[in-house]
Amino acid sequence: SLHTVTTLPTARQPGCPFDPPKELIQAREHGPISRFPFPDGHQGWLITGYDLVRSVLADPRFSSRRELMRHHPLVDYGDIEVPPAPPGEFLLMDEPQHGRYRRPLVGRFTVRRMRQLTERVERITADHLDAMEKAGPPADLVTAFARPIPSIVICELLGVPYEDRGRFQDQIDKFLGGEAGDEELIAAYTATQRYLAELVAAKRANPTDDVLSDLTDSDLTDEELRGMALILLSAGFDTTANMLALGAFALLSHPAQPAAWRADPALTDRAVEELLRYLSVAKTFMRTALEDVELGGRTIEAGTTVILSYNTANRDPERFADPHVLDLRRENGGHLAFGHGIHQCLGQQLARVEMRVAFPALLDRFPTLRLAVPAEEVGLRPETADIFGVKSLPVTWDA
Ligand code: HEM
Repeated sequence: SLHTVTTLPTARQPGCPFDPPKELIQAREHGPISRFPFPDGHQGWLITGYDLVRSVLADPRFSSRRELMRHHPLVDYGDIEVPPAPPGEFLLMDEPQHGRYRRPLVGRFTVRRMRQLTERVERITADHLDAMEKAGPPADLVTAFARPIPSIVICELLGVPYEDRGRFQDQIDKFLGGEAGDEELIAAYTATQRYLAELVAAKRANPTDDVLSDLTDSDLTDEELRGMALILLSAGFDTTANMLALGAFALLSHPAQPAAWRADPALTDRAVEELLRYLSVAKTFMRTALEDVELGGRTIEAGTTVILSYNTANRDPERFADPHVLDLRRENGGHLAFGHGIHQCLGQQLARVEMRVAFPALLDRFPTLRLAVPAEEVGLRPETADIFGVKSLPVTWDA
């Protein structure tokens, strides 16, 4: 029988900050695909099974175009027109437009290029751990560790002066944090566009050795460069920052896991993949069917919106044994935390380098690291945030 999820859950189970909301877990137990009536009346679908999410992501009959996503999963906006994504914002485009923007970037984000960054990431991480140690316990791991590391890395890679970070970071938090009102969002958008315009002009006038300057040496317009810079800055910063902070919270909540990692540094690559799977901070994306598609025995009609729950798919017991267990030794990768198909995360190798450096360095530096407040008091982002995470993470250690 066909299961219906009537509203998208807006909260997780108390005491289960790392698990998808129980309504989504239960939906998957009924089957990989559920009916989802959007608040505006549109009859859509919710996909929670691993294989089906993956097959939608690999299927060009499902579109990422923003102008087709006219149904909000939580709010009835009526019959609104959604404009296409601004030039350069290729996350919300299909081929051929998407490839035109993504292609010139691919060579800048290869495994080899990112490995070359390892030493720099080690230095940045060590500097922040030094500062934490010097200041002494307690500390907020979000401000002392999880945010500054990816922020400095993406700024250096793009050629954005780190001093400028205040001009876009808070705005990006507003876009992705799920708590800003409409007026705040508009103000944040305007301020960010103003900043990006200055940045692109500065790179054109004075190219340096970085990704944005390289891009000025092409036929891309200023508007396109602004859009690409916005996608890179927001995708490259908030996701990794939340993985580091929520990851540290998960590790400290499962003390046997960091103990195993400290004892066996060779666990690092697997441990990072497992944290990515278990936490899946980029948890939900949508696609629109461009034609009628047969999927899991159902017909998805042309024009229908599907919600893909990456984090529930990453807890699918048909794909991962004991899926709700955090097990840093787990061998089977293939999680969907970076997506799949043409939009699969461009920065995944960079994110991996950052996490493979930062987590072990943190655990090594503070062997007695622990939460400084009861786990229930750690402030979480709301479930409505695009990227899940903690707002702050008070920790302490034996100095
Ligand atoms: C796309 C997750 C870090 C840049 C994506 C997507 C996911 C994701 C799930 C696919 C979205 C979709 O299916 O529509 C993550 C996570 C990260 C991370 C969990 C950290 C752990 C980064 C970093 C960068 C980055 C460091 C740096 C540049 C991008 C870009 C796209 C993307 C540009 C769009 C790709 C496209 O549309 O072709 N990311 N990401 N991400 N990510 Fe990441």
